[in-house]
This record gives sequence, C-alpha cells and structure tokens, in this order.
Amino acid sequence: MHSVPRTILLSTAWLGFFAGCLLILDNSYRDFGPGGEGVFIAQKEESARTPLWILSLRIHIVAGAVCLLACLPQFSGSLLRRIPSLHRICGKAYAASVLFVLCPTGIHLALSAKGGLAGRAGFLLLGIASFLTTLQGIRTIRGGDLQGHRRWMTRSFALIASAVTFRVYHVAFFHAGLPEDTNYVASLWLSVLGNAAVAEWIVRRRPEPRTFSPAIPSIP
Ligand code: HEM
Repeated sequence: MHSVPRTILLSTAWLGFFAGCLLILDNSYRDFGPGGEGVFIAQKEESARTPLWILSLRIHIVAGAVCLLACLPQFSGSLLRRIPSLHRICGKAYAASVLFVLCPTGIHLALSAKGGLAGRAGFLLLGIASFLTTLQGIRTIRGGDLQGHRRWMTRSFALIASAVTFRVYHVAFFHAGLPEDTNYVASLWLSVLGNAAVAEWIVRRRPEPRTFSPAIPSIP
C-alpha cells in the first residue's frame, strides 16, 4: 500500500499534469484551430515558414494532442487492473503517435526551431530520446519484460511531459523578466534534462509492484 504523502504527491503531480494538458489543448485550439489567432506561425521568421514546415507543425500539434490524451489513464494501477483493454488501446495510440508522427515532425521542426543552435540541439535531443525510450518500452512488453516496460515508459512519458513543464518554466521565467531568447532555451533544456532526471529517480527508487504484472495483457 502507498504511504499517504506518496499518494498525495502522486495525485498532485497527476492533477498538475492534467491541468497542463488542458491548457496546451486549449492554447493549441485557439492558436491553430479553425479561425485561430495564428500567433506562433506569424512570429516565425519568413524564411522558415514554408508550406512543408506549416504542414509539419499542424500534424505535430494533432499528434501532441493524441499523445497527451492517450497517456492520461496509463499510470493508474486501478484502471489497469479494472479495464486492461483501455491500457492496451491508449498504449497503442500513444506509441503510434510518438513514433510515427510526433517525433518525426518534431525533429523536422527542430531544424528551424527558436533559440539558435542550443534550441535546435535541445529539440533534437528531445525527439531522439522520446523516440528511443518509447521504442524500448514497446520492445520490452513484447518480450514479456513488465518491469522493463514500466521503466522505459516512465522515461518516455517524462520526456513527452516536457511539453507541459516547458510551458511552466517559460511562463515563470517570463514573469522573472528573462529575455525571450534565453527564456526559450533555458525552459527547453531545463524541462528535458529535469524531467529525464525525475524519471531516473522514480525508476530507481520505485518498489517492484506485487499486483501489476498479471493484469497486463500481452500485445497481440
Ligand atoms: C505531447 C507532446 C508534445 C506536444 C503536446 C507538443 C506540442 C507542440 C505545440 C502546440 C507546438 C507549437 C508551439 C506552441 O504552441 O508552443 C510545438 C512546437 C514544436 N515542437 Fe512539440 N509537442 C510535443 C512534443 C514534442 C517533441 C517530443 C518534440 C521533439 C522534437 C517536439 C518539437 C517541437 C518543435 C521543434 C516545435 C517548434 C518550435 C520552434 O519552432 O521554435 N515537440 N509542439
């Protein structure tokens, strides 16, 4: 059984993540949806604003939304035990959106991302690390390695969650008066490296679950 502080910590983190997801979905809809403001695209320097870049961005945003929605139920042990098929469906949607759409488009967008070399390198690192950790999460479950699956998907999720933490740092640094270029790069690197460090801390200290394993169905 979880201790009360751990349960409170986990619930708070999950609620924070959930609120962040809603905020991203709402902002994306307002900026990129039908009749949207188009601020992000308008602010991009003209040379980078090619039709291919705009297409990549639009596809990336839809994949990001799918990915955020699909990962929300994945870390609930009770949902996993009660509705294992939900875990399997959301897992497939998450993996497909990360591997086939989010990372390839993200890596393409990274080539002309804000923040100069440091910005591009940060997004490239994020794209490659998200791709590899998710792939490893699939390989482990296909090989029947449940603990490995948990570890790699925790890492994958932490990296994807940098979409949320990035925005938190970005707003905080904005209010702290950091110039936009420094803010963008600092928020990016802090969210990627910070989230990766938190994931490592979690996978190394987490006790082995007793009831988790039998509930996970095999992926056909
Ligand atoms: C669920 C995860 C993700 C979501 C929800 C998401 C969402 C978005 C959104 C909404 C934008 C438009 C900019 C904005 O409104 O701030 C964007 C831009 C971008 N995203 Fe993602 N993204 C995710 C993951 C990733 C990953 C894994 C990469 C890795 C390469 C990535 C790379 C980029 C890049 C390079 C840009 C353009 C930045 C620029 O031009 O300065 N994203 N993303």
